[in-house]
Amino acid sequence: MHTILITGGAGFIGSHLARLFVIKYPEYKIVNLDKLTYAGNLENLKDIETASNYSFVKGDITDLALLKELFATHQFTAVLHCAAESHVDRSITDPLAFVTTNVLGTGALLVAAKESWGNDLAGKVFYHISTDEVYGSLGAEGFFTESTAYDPRSPYSASKASSDHLVRAFYHTYHLPVKISNCSNNYGPFHFPEKLIPLCIHNIINNKPLPIYGKGENVRDWLYVEDHVRAIDTIFHNGKVGETYNIGGHNEWTNLNLVKELCRQMDEKLGREKGSSEKLITYVTDRAGHDLRYAIDASKLKNELGWLPSLQFEEGISKTIDWYLNNKEWLDDVTSGGYQLYYDTMYRKV
Ligand code: NAD
Ligand code: TYD
Repeated sequence: MHTILITGGAGFIGSHLARLFVIKYPEYKIVNLDKLTYAGNLENLKDIETASNYSFVKGDITDLALLKELFATHQFTAVLHCAAESHVDRSITDPLAFVTTNVLGTGALLVAAKESWGNDLAGKVFYHISTDEVYGSLGAEGFFTESTAYDPRSPYSASKASSDHLVRAFYHTYHLPVKISNCSNNYGPFHFPEKLIPLCIHNIINNKPLPIYGKGENVRDWLYVEDHVRAIDTIFHNGKVGETYNIGGHNEWTNLNLVKELCRQMDEKLGREKGSSEKLITYVTDRAGHDLRYAIDASKLKNELGWLPSLQFEEGISKTIDWYLNNKEWLDDVTSGGYQLYYDTMYRKV
């Protein structure tokens, strides 16, 4: 039995995680705390919002008084901490927002959990969801392992690295029962269309330019979001307290090849002439401090806990495109208003 505080459950990964736990564990109670920033959307949770083991609280993880009140009311036995500012490009224009939510917010959550749990730590779990970007940038060879030294290079990854360090510090100093996972790039339904894959799907549908930073040679390791939340489920229940687990897809793509694969599949699905979407590819100014390559060695997770990704990339991308084509209303909804302003400012020249 668990009563779990999920933070950021209205976002991309958090909504998949909330759905998995609400449906798979009807005996658990799930409370979703989310500030509903531009990235949080209750539409992502429509199918579970009336479930009897689920409730939603709108609030900010930096609000320690609110956190203390929620711990006192619900007596949480676990935290699944997903809430974050998550977009590298936004961290370049507004780094302090990332320090505030990712560092101070994580600090406040740790303090609230520590104070609420006191010495009664048996069965408690503070699970911190993090990113492979804390390890920095790889050259053409090699993989990040759990012992790779942290070397974050963007305000986003630096703020996530800081939060990882705080979580570990609470384990060593106060014996808070923490678990951490660092995952590669996710893709799938409900992904906000300012990140590469949903942005390109949206632009292909609307015949708009596909902005590729630099030469498109940067490499990312892509994992289907449902495989990520399955891994979190496995680590939450079977992982060792105090440990870190890397999660990855063994699925590296240069940005250019990835966008070409999207174009190929979408031409087929939209009944467009072969090669027509590729003509939308437009090279734009590179991201400042653009990390060249991320690649994860997830063998610890495989060897210790038996987790492997379930989907091949071409299949995952096909499912993802189908979801966006079948959920145009969701896409139209999130790409109106504030999104247009962001897009026009970010991609002024495209
Ligand atoms: P997202 O931006 O889609 O969602 C973040 C959610 O957090 C939103 O619902 C937002 O409203 C909420 N939030 C933001 N600030 C908040 C605050 N101060 N208080 C309460 N709620 C707040 O992000 P995502 O892609 O779902 O990422 C979730 C987590 O997974 C993040 O910690 C991120 O670092 C990590 N991660 C993401 C990826 C990826 O590819 N997206 C990969 C590895 C790890
Ligand atoms: P993104 O989805 O922002 O994830 P992250 O920066 O966390 O890896 O970007 C994925 C890759 O795609 C990254 O190398 C930057 C690149 N990119 C573009 O080339 N064009 C774009 O418009 C965006 C948003 C990203």
